[in-house]
Amino acid sequence: MNPNPKLKGQSALVTGANSGIGKAVAIALANDGANVVVNYVTHPEAAQQVVDEIKANGGVAIALMADVSNEAQVQSMFRDMFAAFGTIDILVNNAGLQKDSAFQDMSLADWQTVININLTGQFLCAREAVREFLRRGVVPERSVAAGKIICMSSVHEVIPWGGHVNYATSKGGIMMLMKSMAQELAPKRIRVNSIGPGAIQTPINRSAWDTPEALNSLLTLIPYNRIGQPEDIGKLAAWLASDESDYITGTTVFCDGGMTLYPGFSTNG
Ligand code: BGC
Repeated sequence: MNPNPKLKGQSALVTGANSGIGKAVAIALANDGANVVVNYVTHPEAAQQVVDEIKANGGVAIALMADVSNEAQVQSMFRDMFAAFGTIDILVNNAGLQKDSAFQDMSLADWQTVININLTGQFLCAREAVREFLRRGVVPERSVAAGKIICMSSVHEVIPWGGHVNYATSKGGIMMLMKSMAQELAPKRIRVNSIGPGAIQTPINRSAWDTPEALNSLLTLIPYNRIGQPEDIGKLAAWLASDESDYITGTTVFCDGGMTLYPGFSTNG
């Protein structure tokens, strides 16, 4: 563990933390001293592996199952978290998925699944966290804020994405969810921000990097010329959750190697 942990004694919930970006965020928060709930909906063994890795590193973690789009399961997960850790200081709304198709072929089921998990799931978890932040208020020994929420968005909250209309719509929605919550809750000392990852090497976008041809094509979209790693996002999340970023609220921090700089325009237009 970090010798001077900036999240010491704080409790964090990371949704969808059994793989990819969520896993790296859970590990980074624990490494900075937070007690971490590793949420998952499938693959409990993968969640347990994240818990084991955190414990092996001297941290504290438990795994809790909940489908973030299910209100009763979300509420039960928060009750279990409070029973284990007492409260919540940091929520990382990370759980999300893609169900891609051409627009004319997109089923209502695939539209709704993506909106329910990516957007409504963030609302349900944020609401439970905010209720607890308001009930408890600031605990100065832990943080100068009453609570911190980090929404995992995407470059696709601003970059339109054909073939992924449900996903891009969910991320555009997350942007306004985050900003409206941030505006409403700032007077209560609750900070709400988003991280906008670009192409991060995880299972969600395997087809974009698992052959040299695919990776080369992807790199034409990334001025910094490398694919992102989950740890790039983990480090940012730990900082955004800490008092070091106390004056930041209502902002999306893009972590994308310049993908949002529209690199196609560097030699065109
Ligand atoms: C998507 C990835 C994609 C990246 C950049 C992310 O939000 O989940 O599949 O590679 O955006 O386009």
